Parts: sequence; structure tokens; C-alpha cells
Amino acid sequence: MNQNFPLLLAIIALTGVNSDVQQLPEVHGDKFYYYGFGSNMLAKRIHIQNPTAEIIGPALLEDYRVDFSLVSQFWKGAVATIVPSPGSKTWGTLWEIDLTNLPDIDNQERVHLGWYKPISVQVKLQNNATEIPARLYVITNEPKGNVHDLPPSEVPEDRQPSKTYLQVLVKGAIESGLPEEYVTWLKGFKHNNQTVQHLEELLELQSVQL
Ligand SMILES: *[C@@H]1O[C@H](CO)[C@@H](O)[C@H](O)[C@H]1NC(C)=O
Ligand SMILES: *[C@@H]1O[C@H](CO)[C@@H](O)[C@H](O)[C@H]1NC(C)=O
Repeated sequence: MNQNFPLLLAIIALTGVNSDVQQLPEVHGDKFYYYGFGSNMLAKRIHIQNPTAEIIGPALLEDYRVDFSLVSQFWKGAVATIVPSPGSKTWGTLWEIDLTNLPDIDNQERVHLGWYKPISVQVKLQNNATEIPARLYVITNEPKGNVHDLPPSEVPEDRQPSKTYLQVLVKGAIESGLPEEYVTWLKGFKHNNQTVQHLEELLELQSVQL
């Protein structure tokens, strides 16, 4: 047998992975589009693990809604996900990121632990009908019931984000230029009043009003 056989196999395996990535609709050349609707709307936050992220702008995602589920120890409350929801629409921040950071964002979303999974969606920039393919991450265990249907007093504890997480979303949404109605909706969402002090400081959240 050729003594380079294992090396050859390794090369085939690597090229295979690479061409799978190249075939994703959100990938173009050595970059990809990524749609952040949670803490990754905030530049300071996304740049911790993904320093190559550059903002494209606020973007609309149709036929999905944002929801909260999966209580995170890190954030001390429920975190955001996206759920298919015909007729709904939601807002987020479109970023362009170097492919070198793709494993970092997969890792941040704990894809290897099965918490979130990546999907490809089509989003639109404000006042622009052109569809742009983008990667986003949804919570694997889709939440039951729609938090938008509940008055604040009836949002269950395990669907409430922490005050800190909601402040990150509000700060990121304002910074990214998301529509005011969406920011207002976020500000009014029921939170569990928990704060994460080191994140309040790191992400400069003290002045964010809910
Ligand atoms: C709409 O978005 C596309 C894709 O990003 C861009 O090429 C085009 O210039 C935009 N059109 C306008 C009018 O902004
Ligand atoms: C929220 O937490 C603060 C302390 O962090 C406390 O002073 C306040 O009373 C709490 N509010 C509610 C509604 O529990």
C-alpha cells in the first residue's frame, strides 16, 4: 500500500468538510453572512469570539418569531431563539464574518453540545426586497407556545430572560439600528430581575434602560 495513504485520506476528509461549508448558501468566498437576534446584535459581544464580524445592517426575517427558552447559567435566565411562525416577522443584525471564525461561532452557540443548531434563512435589509442568505442558530429543543401571546404577568419563569440579557438585546438592537417598535417590544418584555455583574461591566450595560 502507498505509504502516503493515511495522508491522502486526511486530505480527502479535509477537502470534503471544506466543500460542504462552501456549499452553504450563506458562504461567499472566504466569508459568510450571519444573522444575530440575541446577544450577538451587540458589537462588543460578538467581537469577543468573532473578531472578524463586520456589521451589514438591521435585517428583517419573515415567517419566524423570536422567542425565549433554554435557561442559561451564564446569562441567569432564558435566552433567545427563532421559531418558524408563518405570517410573523422579526428583526436582527446582519453581519459578515470570515470563515476562519465559523468554528468559533458554532462553539459559542454550543452546537457540539446540541444546544443550538445552525440553519440557513433568507433575510432582507431595511427597505430592500433583495433576499440575502444568512446563517442563524436556533435552540434545538423548540419552545412550545408563543410568548408573544402572553401578557407579561403570565410569561413563565423558564421563558424569562435575565435583566442583564435583556439589556444586551436592547443595547444591541439600538446600536444596530433596529426599528423603534422592535426595541420598545424588547424593553417591555418580562425579565426575571437577575443581573450578571461581570457582564454588566464588560458590556457596559449600567445605563441601559428597560
Ligand atoms: C439591496 O441589497 C442588495 C444586497 O445587499 C444590494 O446589492 C443593493 O444595492 C441594495 N439596493 C438598494 C437600493 O439599497
Ligand atoms: C430587582 O432586584 C433589585 C436588586 O437587584 C431589587 O432592589 C428590586 O426590588 C427587584 N425588583 C423586583 C420587582 O423584584
